[in-house]
Amino acid sequence: MRGIYLDNAATSYPKPESVCDAVDHFNRYLGGNPGRGAHRATLQAGNIILEARESLAALFNIEDANYIAFMSNVTEALNTALKGLLQPGDHVITSDMEHNAMARPLYVLSRQGIEWTQIHASMKNGLDPEDVRRAIKPNTKLITLLHASNLTGAIMPITAIGKIAREHDITFMVDSAQSAGVLPIDVIAQNIDVLAFTGHKGLLGLQGTGGLYVKPGLFIRRLKEGGTGSFSEHLTHPDFMPDHLEAGTPNTPGIIGLLAGVNFVRAAGVDKIREHEIRLCERLLQGLREIPGVIVYGPADSKDRTAVIAFNISGRDCGDVSFNLDHRYGIICRAGLHCAPLAHTCIGTFETGACRLSPGFFNNEEDIDRTIKAIYTLAKE
Ligand SMILES: Cc1ncc(COP(=O)(O)O)c(C=O)c1O
Repeated sequence: MRGIYLDNAATSYPKPESVCDAVDHFNRYLGGNPGRGAHRATLQAGNIILEARESLAALFNIEDANYIAFMSNVTEALNTALKGLLQPGDHVITSDMEHNAMARPLYVLSRQGIEWTQIHASMKNGLDPEDVRRAIKPNTKLITLLHASNLTGAIMPITAIGKIAREHDITFMVDSAQSAGVLPIDVIAQNIDVLAFTGHKGLLGLQGTGGLYVKPGLFIRRLKEGGTGSFSEHLTHPDFMPDHLEAGTPNTPGIIGLLAGVNFVRAAGVDKIREHEIRLCERLLQGLREIPGVIVYGPADSKDRTAVIAFNISGRDCGDVSFNLDHRYGIICRAGLHCAPLAHTCIGTFETGACRLSPGFFNNEEDIDRTIKAIYTLAKE
């Protein structure tokens, strides 16, 4: 792909060479279906899957890597957790910035007798953890929210909310789609009982990968049964992790790519990645704010946000802006509602949508300057 890729919030690009090499190497020279039989190929594949669990566990400070189940993306992980944890009569608390991967399953559940409270995350001051505390009821079973918004980049105060959840003995789940690999996550220090992740964004792996960490002792009803390669003599599906939440042949080439992506992130260091993204984000924010007619949404301080910036040029359709950036300047960004109608309602752009710029680890200052210049030209027209 030529041009300046600024849609890392949708999926990261390019991938590290080590990710491409790992996938290629597996497909050409290794093969094997992990856990199926005892020949060399299956054992090699099984070891790589185990290594991937361990690398993710190290990144998120998870004590036992077996409590991470691989799934096809964070959407499957959130569906599994929400539908496997909640029952009619339960109350669940989220923010009003959630992606449809959280909101749509909750909407279905809310039609089946689950009570759903959305806490307002103000654009100016963010989400107040005390509002979450005040929303807790005797039947509150789960507090669940995204770590960072895929629309404005706003970072949610998950450490404070995790503490509140622990004080009230309520299960706490985090959607790390926009934060894994770019913000530090520590399931122990942040009291995260369930962590849903996707492999193809900040973790720099392939699309079609992701998973769910579930704290030992917490039971989530599984959504599917099938082959696991373990206890095949029984018709009942195993109830130990990770087999409990995994069924069928995994996306082994994808998980190998994810392992390489997570290893890349760990070697580079989440703090270094974050520093780089803050630098680019500050430059972009500053440049956009100086352009007459450009409206920038989200937290003013780049420390309060990830490198995800939503903006509009007043009087101009966001789809048209994105089209022009792509076709005239080779700048790739996304326009529309970003699968986040709640968040657009929250910031007042439900009717118009917005353009979203999301630089990543492989962008540089020159990319940002060229983008600012292009938007300046479009805003002047
Ligand atoms: C906050 C958030 N949650 C969930 C998702 C869904 O991710 P996936 O499509 O990988 O399941 C996204 C993707 O943009 C996201 O940004």
